[in-house]
Amino acid sequence: MTDRDPNEPLSEEEIHNISRLPKVELHTHFEGMAPPAFIRGLAKEKKVDLSKIFRPDGSYDYRDFWHFLEVYEAATSVLKSPEDFARLCTAVLEESAANDVIYTETFMSPDFCGGGDVSAWKEYLHAIQDAAREAERDHGILLRGTVTCIRHFGPDQARRTALCAAETVGDFITGFGMGGDEKKGKQRDFAWAFDCAREAGLRLTTHAGEWNGPQEVREAVEDLGVERIGHGVRAHTDFALLDMLAEREITLEVCPGSNVFLGVFPSLKDHPIAKLRERGVKVTVSTDDPPFFHTTMHKEYEDLASTFQWGEEVFRDLNKTAIEAAFCDAATREAVLKRLEQT
Ligand code: ADE
Ligand code: ZN
Repeated sequence: MTDRDPNEPLSEEEIHNISRLPKVELHTHFEGMAPPAFIRGLAKEKKVDLSKIFRPDGSYDYRDFWHFLEVYEAATSVLKSPEDFARLCTAVLEESAANDVIYTETFMSPDFCGGGDVSAWKEYLHAIQDAAREAERDHGILLRGTVTCIRHFGPDQARRTALCAAETVGDFITGFGMGGDEKKGKQRDFAWAFDCAREAGLRLTTHAGEWNGPQEVREAVEDLGVERIGHGVRAHTDFALLDMLAEREITLEVCPGSNVFLGVFPSLKDHPIAKLRERGVKVTVSTDDPPFFHTTMHKEYEDLASTFQWGEEVFRDLNKTAIEAAFCDAATREAVLKRLEQT
Protein backbone atom coordinates (compact mmCIF):
# COMPACT_ATOMS: atom_id res chain seq x y z
CA MET A 1 0.00 0.00 0.00
CA THR A 2 1.32 3.46 -0.85
CA ASP A 3 1.40 6.27 1.72
CA ARG A 4 -1.00 8.95 0.59
CA ASP A 5 -1.43 12.57 1.55
CA PRO A 6 -5.13 12.64 2.58
CA ASN A 7 -5.36 16.26 1.36
CA GLU A 8 -4.34 15.31 -2.17
CA PRO A 9 -7.23 14.12 -4.35
CA LEU A 10 -6.90 10.54 -5.55
CA SER A 11 -5.48 10.23 -9.03
CA GLU A 12 -7.35 8.43 -11.80
CA GLU A 13 -4.83 5.63 -11.57
CA GLU A 14 -5.38 5.26 -7.82
CA ILE A 15 -9.15 5.15 -8.30
CA HIS A 16 -8.76 2.56 -11.04
CA ASN A 17 -6.51 0.41 -8.84
CA ILE A 18 -8.98 0.65 -5.94
CA SER A 19 -11.81 -0.54 -8.19
CA ARG A 20 -9.74 -3.61 -9.12
CA LEU A 21 -9.20 -4.78 -5.53
CA PRO A 22 -10.48 -8.27 -4.68
CA LYS A 23 -13.97 -7.94 -3.22
CA VAL A 24 -16.55 -9.57 -0.99
CA GLU A 25 -20.15 -8.81 -1.94
CA LEU A 26 -22.99 -9.70 0.45
CA HIS A 27 -26.15 -8.24 -1.09
CA THR A 28 -27.33 -9.24 -4.54
CA HIS A 29 -30.63 -10.64 -5.77
CA PHE A 30 -30.06 -13.66 -8.01
CA GLU A 31 -32.71 -12.80 -10.62
CA GLY A 32 -31.91 -9.10 -10.24
CA MET A 33 -28.41 -9.78 -11.54
CA ALA A 34 -29.75 -11.06 -14.88
CA PRO A 35 -28.48 -8.86 -17.72
CA PRO A 36 -31.38 -7.58 -19.89
CA ALA A 37 -29.92 -9.35 -22.96
CA PHE A 38 -30.01 -12.66 -21.05
CA ILE A 39 -33.70 -12.19 -20.17
CA ARG A 40 -34.53 -11.06 -23.73
CA GLY A 41 -32.80 -14.18 -25.07
CA LEU A 42 -34.85 -16.47 -22.81
CA ALA A 43 -38.07 -14.60 -23.70
CA LYS A 44 -37.34 -15.15 -27.40
CA GLU A 45 -36.60 -18.87 -26.86
CA LYS A 46 -39.83 -19.29 -24.93
CA LYS A 47 -41.84 -17.04 -27.25
CA VAL A 48 -42.89 -14.72 -24.43
CA ASP A 49 -43.51 -11.06 -25.31
CA LEU A 50 -41.59 -9.00 -22.75
CA SER A 51 -41.12 -5.94 -24.97
CA LYS A 52 -42.91 -3.67 -22.47
CA ILE A 53 -40.20 -4.10 -19.81
CA PHE A 54 -37.35 -2.88 -22.01
CA ARG A 55 -36.41 0.58 -23.26
CA PRO A 56 -35.39 1.06 -26.91
CA ASP A 57 -31.71 1.00 -25.81
CA GLY A 58 -32.26 -2.51 -24.39
CA SER A 59 -32.13 -1.61 -20.68
CA TYR A 60 -34.87 -2.45 -18.17
CA ASP A 61 -37.68 0.11 -18.13
CA TYR A 62 -39.42 1.14 -14.90
CA ARG A 63 -40.60 4.34 -13.23
CA ASP A 64 -39.86 3.83 -9.53
CA PHE A 65 -39.12 1.16 -6.94
CA TRP A 66 -42.65 -0.25 -6.93
CA HIS A 67 -42.75 -0.48 -10.69
CA PHE A 68 -39.24 -1.98 -10.53
CA LEU A 69 -40.64 -4.82 -8.39
CA GLU A 70 -43.26 -5.51 -11.10
CA VAL A 71 -40.71 -5.41 -13.92
CA TYR A 72 -38.41 -7.66 -11.85
CA GLU A 73 -41.17 -10.25 -11.52
CA ALA A 74 -42.02 -10.01 -15.24
CA ALA A 75 -38.35 -10.53 -16.16
CA THR A 76 -38.13 -13.46 -13.74
CA SER A 77 -41.19 -15.12 -15.31
CA VAL A 78 -39.07 -16.40 -18.24
CA LEU A 79 -36.71 -18.19 -15.84
CA LYS A 80 -38.70 -21.39 -15.74
CA SER A 81 -36.60 -24.56 -15.47
CA PRO A 82 -33.68 -25.56 -13.22
CA GLU A 83 -31.56 -25.36 -16.38
CA ASP A 84 -32.57 -21.68 -16.88
CA PHE A 85 -31.41 -20.88 -13.34
CA ALA A 86 -28.16 -22.78 -13.91
CA ARG A 87 -27.51 -20.64 -17.00
CA LEU A 88 -28.31 -17.54 -14.94
CA CYS A 89 -25.83 -18.66 -12.30
CA THR A 90 -23.06 -19.11 -14.88
CA ALA A 91 -23.75 -15.67 -16.41
CA VAL A 92 -23.88 -13.75 -13.13
CA LEU A 93 -20.81 -15.37 -11.58
CA GLU A 94 -18.79 -14.66 -14.72
CA GLU A 95 -19.79 -11.00 -14.42
CA SER A 96 -19.06 -10.86 -10.67
CA ALA A 97 -15.64 -12.45 -11.20
CA ALA A 98 -14.93 -9.89 -13.95
CA ASN A 99 -15.54 -7.25 -11.24
CA ASP A 100 -12.90 -8.93 -9.05
CA VAL A 101 -15.47 -10.32 -6.62
CA ILE A 102 -13.98 -13.42 -4.99
CA TYR A 103 -16.81 -14.25 -2.57
CA THR A 104 -20.44 -13.40 -3.12
CA GLU A 105 -23.78 -14.06 -1.50
CA THR A 106 -27.04 -13.88 -3.35
CA PHE A 107 -30.71 -13.91 -2.38
CA MET A 108 -32.50 -16.90 -3.89
CA SER A 109 -36.26 -17.17 -3.92
CA PRO A 110 -37.97 -20.58 -3.92
CA ASP A 111 -41.07 -18.55 -4.92
CA PHE A 112 -39.54 -18.28 -8.40
CA CYS A 113 -38.12 -21.83 -8.30
CA GLY A 114 -41.13 -24.10 -8.01
CA GLY A 115 -43.47 -21.75 -6.10
CA GLY A 116 -42.31 -22.78 -2.62
CA ASP A 117 -42.60 -26.55 -3.12
CA VAL A 118 -39.70 -28.22 -1.28
CA SER A 119 -38.96 -31.02 -3.76
CA ALA A 120 -39.09 -28.66 -6.75
CA TRP A 121 -36.81 -26.20 -4.90
CA LYS A 122 -34.29 -29.01 -4.32
CA GLU A 123 -34.14 -29.68 -8.07
CA TYR A 124 -33.49 -26.01 -8.85
CA LEU A 125 -30.90 -25.80 -6.14
CA HIS A 126 -29.09 -28.86 -7.44
CA ALA A 127 -28.75 -27.30 -10.92
CA ILE A 128 -27.66 -23.93 -9.47
CA GLN A 129 -25.05 -25.54 -7.25
CA ASP A 130 -23.57 -27.50 -10.17
CA ALA A 131 -23.19 -24.22 -12.08
CA ALA A 132 -21.67 -22.51 -9.02
CA ARG A 133 -19.10 -25.32 -8.68
CA GLU A 134 -18.10 -24.86 -12.32
CA ALA A 135 -17.75 -21.10 -11.84
CA GLU A 136 -15.59 -21.70 -8.78
CA ARG A 137 -13.36 -23.98 -10.84
CA ASP A 138 -13.23 -21.61 -13.85
CA HIS A 139 -13.07 -18.20 -12.15
CA GLY A 140 -12.17 -18.89 -8.51
CA ILE A 141 -15.36 -17.19 -7.28
CA LEU A 142 -17.25 -18.59 -4.29
CA LEU A 143 -21.04 -18.33 -4.01
CA ARG A 144 -23.29 -18.84 -0.99
CA GLY A 145 -27.09 -18.62 -1.12
CA THR A 146 -29.50 -16.87 1.24
CA VAL A 147 -33.03 -18.18 0.79
CA THR A 148 -35.29 -15.16 0.67
CA CYS A 149 -38.96 -14.63 1.23
CA ILE A 150 -40.72 -11.74 -0.45
CA ARG A 151 -42.52 -9.38 1.89
CA HIS A 152 -45.37 -8.46 -0.43
CA PHE A 153 -46.11 -12.17 -1.04
CA GLY A 154 -47.19 -12.28 2.63
CA PRO A 155 -46.42 -14.32 5.77
CA ASP A 156 -48.04 -17.60 4.60
CA GLN A 157 -45.84 -17.82 1.52
CA ALA A 158 -42.87 -16.79 3.71
CA ARG A 159 -43.54 -19.84 5.90
CA ARG A 160 -43.31 -22.11 2.84
CA THR A 161 -40.10 -20.36 1.83
CA ALA A 162 -38.65 -20.84 5.31
CA LEU A 163 -39.45 -24.55 5.14
CA CYS A 164 -37.62 -24.74 1.78
CA ALA A 165 -34.66 -23.02 3.46
CA ALA A 166 -34.73 -25.30 6.49
CA GLU A 167 -34.79 -28.39 4.24
CA THR A 168 -31.73 -27.27 2.29
CA VAL A 169 -29.49 -25.69 4.93
CA GLY A 170 -25.87 -26.71 4.42
CA ASP A 171 -22.55 -25.55 3.00
CA PHE A 172 -24.25 -23.69 0.16
CA ILE A 173 -27.54 -22.41 1.60
CA THR A 174 -26.35 -20.63 4.71
CA GLY A 175 -28.78 -17.75 5.25
CA PHE A 176 -32.40 -16.71 5.32
CA GLY A 177 -33.67 -13.25 4.48
CA MET A 178 -36.51 -11.08 3.26
CA GLY A 179 -36.75 -8.62 0.35
CA GLY A 180 -39.68 -7.03 -1.43
CA ASP A 181 -41.95 -4.13 -0.59
CA GLU A 182 -41.02 -2.71 2.81
CA LYS A 183 -44.28 -0.74 2.87
CA LYS A 184 -46.30 -4.00 3.14
CA GLY A 185 -46.90 -5.45 6.61
CA LYS A 186 -44.46 -5.46 9.51
CA GLN A 187 -41.21 -7.27 10.14
CA ARG A 188 -42.84 -9.14 13.04
CA ASP A 189 -45.48 -10.64 10.70
CA PHE A 190 -42.63 -12.82 9.44
CA ALA A 191 -41.33 -13.92 12.85
CA TRP A 192 -42.49 -17.53 12.36
CA ALA A 193 -40.48 -17.83 9.13
CA PHE A 194 -37.37 -16.30 10.71
CA ASP A 195 -37.67 -18.48 13.84
CA CYS A 196 -38.01 -21.57 11.65
CA ALA A 197 -34.90 -20.59 9.68
CA ARG A 198 -32.91 -19.79 12.83
CA GLU A 199 -33.82 -23.14 14.41
CA ALA A 200 -32.60 -24.87 11.23
CA GLY A 201 -29.19 -23.19 11.71
CA LEU A 202 -29.48 -20.44 9.11
CA ARG A 203 -28.01 -16.95 9.58
CA LEU A 204 -30.47 -14.07 9.27
CA THR A 205 -30.78 -10.80 7.37
CA THR A 206 -33.73 -8.69 6.23
CA HIS A 207 -34.28 -5.63 4.06
CA ALA A 208 -35.10 -2.70 6.35
CA GLY A 209 -34.54 1.03 6.27
CA GLU A 210 -34.34 1.25 2.47
CA TRP A 211 -37.77 2.95 2.27
CA ASN A 212 -39.02 3.09 5.87
CA GLY A 213 -37.29 5.04 8.61
CA PRO A 214 -35.21 4.08 11.66
CA GLN A 215 -38.11 2.35 13.41
CA GLU A 216 -38.14 -0.31 10.68
CA VAL A 217 -34.47 -1.08 11.33
CA ARG A 218 -35.07 -1.27 15.07
CA GLU A 219 -37.97 -3.69 14.52
CA ALA A 220 -35.84 -5.85 12.21
CA VAL A 221 -33.28 -6.28 14.99
CA GLU A 222 -35.73 -6.62 17.87
CA ASP A 223 -38.59 -8.57 16.28
CA LEU A 224 -36.65 -10.87 13.94
CA GLY A 225 -33.24 -11.03 15.66
CA VAL A 226 -31.29 -10.55 12.43
CA GLU A 227 -27.52 -10.10 12.51
CA ARG A 228 -27.35 -8.19 9.22
CA ILE A 229 -29.63 -5.63 7.61
CA GLY A 230 -30.19 -5.17 3.88
CA HIS A 231 -29.64 -1.42 3.31
CA GLY A 232 -30.47 0.00 6.77
CA VAL A 233 -29.35 3.39 5.51
CA ARG A 234 -32.42 5.31 6.67
CA ALA A 235 -31.27 4.60 10.22
CA HIS A 236 -28.77 7.42 9.74
CA THR A 237 -30.85 10.09 11.51
CA ASP A 238 -31.31 8.12 14.74
CA PHE A 239 -28.07 8.25 16.71
CA ALA A 240 -29.27 5.98 19.53
CA LEU A 241 -30.14 3.34 16.95
CA LEU A 242 -26.77 3.75 15.24
CA ASP A 243 -25.03 3.22 18.56
CA MET A 244 -27.13 0.10 19.16
CA LEU A 245 -26.20 -1.24 15.69
CA ALA A 246 -22.53 -0.50 16.35
CA GLU A 247 -22.60 -2.08 19.81
CA ARG A 248 -24.33 -5.24 18.60
CA GLU A 249 -22.05 -5.39 15.54
CA ILE A 250 -24.98 -5.58 13.16
CA THR A 251 -23.61 -5.28 9.64
CA LEU A 252 -25.36 -3.13 7.06
CA GLU A 253 -25.40 -4.43 3.48
CA VAL A 254 -25.21 -0.98 1.90
CA CYS A 255 -25.93 -0.61 -1.83
CA PRO A 256 -25.05 3.01 -2.61
CA GLY A 257 -25.62 2.90 -6.39
CA SER A 258 -29.01 1.24 -5.93
CA ASN A 259 -30.04 3.86 -3.36
CA VAL A 260 -29.05 6.75 -5.60
CA PHE A 261 -30.59 5.24 -8.74
CA LEU A 262 -33.90 4.60 -6.95
CA GLY A 263 -33.89 8.08 -5.38
CA VAL A 264 -33.47 7.06 -1.72
CA PHE A 265 -30.79 9.80 -1.67
CA PRO A 266 -30.44 12.48 -4.34
CA SER A 267 -26.74 11.79 -5.02
CA LEU A 268 -23.82 9.78 -3.68
CA LYS A 269 -22.54 12.94 -1.99
CA ASP A 270 -25.74 12.92 0.11
CA HIS A 271 -25.51 9.19 0.90
CA PRO A 272 -24.86 8.46 4.61
CA ILE A 273 -22.42 5.55 4.10
CA ALA A 274 -19.39 7.58 5.20
CA LYS A 275 -21.20 8.99 8.25
CA LEU A 276 -22.45 5.54 9.26
CA ARG A 277 -18.92 4.20 9.08
CA GLU A 278 -17.51 7.12 11.07
CA ARG A 279 -20.12 6.47 13.78
CA GLY A 280 -18.75 2.91 14.15
CA VAL A 281 -21.53 1.05 12.32
CA LYS A 282 -20.28 -1.93 10.32
CA VAL A 283 -20.90 -1.15 6.66
CA THR A 284 -20.22 -3.13 3.50
CA VAL A 285 -20.72 -2.37 -0.21
CA SER A 286 -22.89 -4.29 -2.69
CA THR A 287 -24.73 -3.74 -5.96
CA ASP A 288 -28.24 -5.15 -5.16
CA ASP A 289 -29.58 -5.65 -8.74
CA PRO A 290 -26.69 -4.32 -10.84
CA PRO A 291 -28.12 -4.26 -14.39
CA PHE A 292 -31.38 -2.74 -13.15
CA PHE A 293 -29.48 0.07 -11.43
CA HIS A 294 -26.80 0.52 -14.10
CA THR A 295 -24.02 -0.35 -11.72
CA THR A 296 -21.18 -2.83 -11.17
CA MET A 297 -18.79 -3.44 -8.27
CA HIS A 298 -16.06 -1.65 -10.26
CA LYS A 299 -18.33 1.38 -10.61
CA GLU A 300 -19.38 1.34 -6.93
CA TYR A 301 -15.73 1.43 -5.84
CA GLU A 302 -14.78 4.12 -8.38
CA ASP A 303 -17.72 6.31 -7.35
CA LEU A 304 -17.12 5.88 -3.61
CA ALA A 305 -13.39 6.56 -3.96
CA SER A 306 -13.89 9.71 -6.00
CA THR A 307 -16.83 11.05 -3.96
CA PHE A 308 -15.46 10.42 -0.45
CA GLN A 309 -11.74 10.35 -1.32
CA TRP A 310 -11.49 6.94 0.34
CA GLY A 311 -8.08 5.37 -0.15
CA GLU A 312 -7.25 1.70 -0.63
CA GLU A 313 -7.08 1.10 3.13
CA VAL A 314 -10.77 2.00 3.54
CA PHE A 315 -11.84 -0.49 0.87
CA ARG A 316 -9.64 -3.20 2.35
CA ASP A 317 -11.34 -2.52 5.67
CA LEU A 318 -14.82 -2.71 4.06
CA ASN A 319 -13.95 -6.10 2.58
CA LYS A 320 -12.64 -7.36 5.90
CA THR A 321 -15.91 -6.27 7.54
CA ALA A 322 -17.83 -8.07 4.80
CA ILE A 323 -16.04 -11.40 5.12
CA GLU A 324 -16.32 -11.23 8.91
CA ALA A 325 -20.11 -10.86 8.50
CA ALA A 326 -20.39 -13.39 5.68
CA PHE A 327 -22.71 -16.35 6.12
CA CYS A 328 -20.03 -18.98 5.59
CA ASP A 329 -18.09 -21.44 7.72
CA ALA A 330 -14.82 -20.58 9.47
CA ALA A 331 -12.60 -22.39 6.96
CA THR A 332 -14.14 -20.50 4.02
CA ARG A 333 -13.82 -17.20 5.90
CA GLU A 334 -10.14 -17.86 6.59
CA ALA A 335 -9.45 -18.84 2.98
CA VAL A 336 -11.16 -15.70 1.61
CA LEU A 337 -9.45 -13.49 4.18
CA LYS A 338 -6.10 -14.86 3.07
CA ARG A 339 -6.89 -14.10 -0.58
CA LEU A 340 -7.97 -10.56 0.34
CA GLU A 341 -4.72 -9.98 2.20
CA GLN A 342 -2.47 -11.51 -0.46
CA THR A 343 -3.71 -9.51 -3.44
N1 ADE B 1 -35.86 -7.16 -4.54
C1 ADE B 1 -34.94 -6.94 -5.47
N2 ADE B 1 -34.28 -5.80 -5.21
C2 ADE B 1 -34.80 -5.29 -4.08
C3 ADE B 1 -34.53 -4.15 -3.29
N3 ADE B 1 -33.60 -3.25 -3.62
N4 ADE B 1 -35.28 -3.95 -2.19
C4 ADE B 1 -36.23 -4.82 -1.86
N5 ADE B 1 -36.50 -5.92 -2.57
C5 ADE B 1 -35.80 -6.15 -3.66
ZN1 ZN C 1 -31.84 -5.84 -2.02
